[in-house]
Amino acid sequence: MPQNIIPYGKQSIDQDDVEAVISTLKSDFLTQGPKIAEFEQVFSDYVDADYGIAVNNGTSALHLCALALGVKPGDKVVCPTITFAASANCIEYCGGEVIFCDIDPNTYLIDLNHVEQLFKEHENIKGIVSVDFAGRPVNLESLRKIADEYGAWIIQDSCHSPGGFFIDSSGLKQKCGNGYYADLAIFSFHPVKHIACGEGGMITTRNKALADKINLLRTHGITKDKKLFSYSSGFFQENQQAPLWYYEMQNLGYNYRLTDFQAALGISQLSKADKGIEKRTRIAKTYYEAFQNKKWIKGQSGYIEGHAYHLYVIEVEKRDELYLYLRENNIHCQIHYFPVHLMPYYFNKKSFNLISSQEYIKNCISIAMFPTLAEYDQNYLINRINHFYEK
Ligand SMILES: Cc1ncc(COP(=O)(O)O)c(C=O)c1O
Repeated sequence: MPQNIIPYGKQSIDQDDVEAVISTLKSDFLTQGPKIAEFEQVFSDYVDADYGIAVNNGTSALHLCALALGVKPGDKVVCPTITFAASANCIEYCGGEVIFCDIDPNTYLIDLNHVEQLFKEHENIKGIVSVDFAGRPVNLESLRKIADEYGAWIIQDSCHSPGGFFIDSSGLKQKCGNGYYADLAIFSFHPVKHIACGEGGMITTRNKALADKINLLRTHGITKDKKLFSYSSGFFQENQQAPLWYYEMQNLGYNYRLTDFQAALGISQLSKADKGIEKRTRIAKTYYEAFQNKKWIKGQSGYIEGHAYHLYVIEVEKRDELYLYLRENNIHCQIHYFPVHLMPYYFNKKSFNLISSQEYIKNCISIAMFPTLAEYDQNYLINRINHFYEK
């Protein structure tokens, strides 16, 4: 048994990362300095988007998207139930109502047939939060067709999929977060994600008007940009030059800023992101080959082109017994995710019967997936799982 605990996910911080943070700590800016703009530029280039807005975490990124898209009380928004609660919560923050959607049992992603059914059943669905669960990109071309039919917007929750892509019907590579099919996309830089900033997030888009709105909302709704001033109080007249120090709070915004030293860490981490995905893909292939013919396995993520492999999920018999057995053997797995519609906050408001998601949660378990996972540890984990079923 290895001395160390094998977790399901883990950050990889090297000396370059440490030095990037230290040199920013010694600079003139700790927050909203040059590293923020640089991180926004390199990250939006990485995902092929036109605009990037860095924020303090993925949850605030979602909140700002919902605000910018104008979610208000009475609005309904579709969201898959197999996701982290934050994907749905952003709608509730704005007074909207979440209509939970089932997953496709083969991909674990939003079930497009169910999305269509929900649009037919409900009036006033304004948008869809789509989640690239585990790092597998949703085919947004198909989702966009449904959204367009009903005039709905799409927020792509790509917290699990920076670097992921799908190939659309024209044969084009559509990177997660490029803003081609979704109005807005969001990412998280929580430590278990591909790019770790401690806490951190990013919004990407091709829509300038939305990017401008989000920029303002990220910093209290305050602007110092003369061109944007409304002078509505009449204290200063438009034709009279307002003093240099003048600023306006035009919207009810928030302080959702990232610090400059977190941005420096993000830039350094991003430079290694592709190597990380290569390593994750190799790990996925090894799991796939090890488990593909085992009769106790009910399903697994498998090898898929464009998958960013944030998580590797398998569905197994006797899941809770396996979970405990692995813990006894220093292997700490995780369950992603207990369906959000069954969380008391949501369940006590409205009940949904989402059969595939309710089946999935009985069997799923996320096993170790991170770039520094040693071959020895991965083999040990595979052997322990096989031993549990074959003993
Ligand atoms: C799918 C998904 N959406 C949103 C979030 C929220 O991101 P953060 O933890 O950075 O607020 C997470 C984080 O775990 C996530 O996994």
